[in-house]
Amino acid sequence: GDVAVLVPAAGSGIRLGPGAPKALRPLAGEPLLVHAVRRIAAAGSVHTIVVAAPAADVAAVAELLAPVAPVTVVPGGAQRQDSVAAALAAVPEGPEIVLVHDAARALVPADLVESVAAAVRSGHDAVIPVLPVVDTIKEVSADEVVQGTVDRSVLRAVQTPQGFRRAVLAAAHAAAVGPLTDDAGLVEKQGVPVVCVPGSEYAMKITRPFDLALAEQLLTVRP
Ligand code: CTP
Ligand code: MG
Repeated sequence: GDVAVLVPAAGSGIRLGPGAPKALRPLAGEPLLVHAVRRIAAAGSVHTIVVAAPAADVAAVAELLAPVAPVTVVPGGAQRQDSVAAALAAVPEGPEIVLVHDAARALVPADLVESVAAAVRSGHDAVIPVLPVVDTIKEVSADEVVQGTVDRSVLRAVQTPQGFRRAVLAAAHAAAVGPLTDDAGLVEKQGVPVVCVPGSEYAMKITRPFDLALAEQLLTVRP
């Protein structure tokens, strides 16, 4: 394998409601992070997995994942971007392709990990999986009055894993100023082209209780 996968898993899951950090909450009896790591490890190109865990849970997460796959666990940071940077710093010499995958996208298919990695391997510096936007999107003012309707055909909903040539991701993080919600955003600011590949509905992000319930149902259809 020539791929390292960074797994930001240090968020608290505020939008999921009160409880443990999101990556440790159960989905069909196992923590979200266990599902995510198992699926990542099933991708044949993956050589290294580095998880950024909540700082208080690093030892527990290492123990939890030991039977699932060989992983390195590091303490995450206050923002997602800090967690990714911490994980990136722990990647050993070797892998020249680095993917970043949210633990919250627990049902990611191994095929999607492979297709993103393959697109980087084929020569793209930065690759993101996307889906078309299905809802009509409107721009509104602060007081919720419609200002206009956006042309949906040029919009994409962005998922993870996002894939990068290692040096490109490292340079983007080194130059990063404000925190962004994805890594491709940092790379865009460096002027590096970011290429889209088809995403997967299974790579949905578990954000709210509805998403967790949906993921439970999806697992009964396709374990
Ligand atoms: N994440 C992280 N470190 C942070 C914040 C987020 O590693 N300081 C991770 C989360 O664990 C998650 C991914 O980034 O896997 C996407 O973040 P999000 O879905 O927003 O998760 P949370 O931040 O946990 O959720 P919320 O924003 O509802 O608190
Ligand atoms: Mg968050």
